[in-house]
Amino acid sequence: MLYLLDTAEVEAIEKMIDIYPISGVTTNPTIIARRGNKVIDTIKEIRACIGEERMLHVQTLGETSEDMVREANMLRDAVKGNFYAKIPVNEQGIKAIQLLKKDGFNVTATAIFTQQQALIASVAGADFVAPYVNRLDNISSSGINVVEDIVKLIKNYDLNTKVLAASFKNVEQVHQVSLAGAHSVTINPELCTNLLYHPLTQESIIDFILDGYSYYDELR
Ligand code: E4P
Repeated sequence: MLYLLDTAEVEAIEKMIDIYPISGVTTNPTIIARRGNKVIDTIKEIRACIGEERMLHVQTLGETSEDMVREANMLRDAVKGNFYAKIPVNEQGIKAIQLLKKDGFNVTATAIFTQQQALIASVAGADFVAPYVNRLDNISSSGINVVEDIVKLIKNYDLNTKVLAASFKNVEQVHQVSLAGAHSVTINPELCTNLLYHPLTQESIIDFILDGYSYYDELR
């Protein structure tokens, strides 16, 4: 399982990568807007924080494949390092994915709501496909079932694509996509913290400290 952070809040990213085994950061235009700075400044700040090796997935905004490819080049030149162009899966996006792969880009196909969108993006060469779990759950569909099916399709056709499950609101959704075989998840920092937290763990740690205090003094 690869854990990525779905945020542009650099202070939070810095705090999380200091503790958790984080493989990278994903953003989208809404996340960039929430940060309140221009896209290039924001992603440069994130790159400086996470280093060259961790993945940085940045979405294009253009509506034609030409614009998507042009923007992907500008974004990659700006941040360098381990960069993924995030491309939405409409027709222009599928065309752009193939053009970008020919140019040697890493590509993440995003805004995925169906199994067949993921399959087409994967056959087009996408390195990651990002199904939106909570947005599917919110329309009375099942994000988990969609992820499960995409994992199966990738196996069935022996495709070289990883599922980057996205759009989560709770721990149970992350747990279910892990069981379904998602290769990676992108989550906000608060949810990442919630994946680890349990009050009984905290209570056990306090009990250990109280019980062992006088017997561990030689280590202090
Ligand atoms: C993933 O690539 C998307 O940026 C993101 O996970 C969407 O999440 P949301 O549904 O919480 O906006």
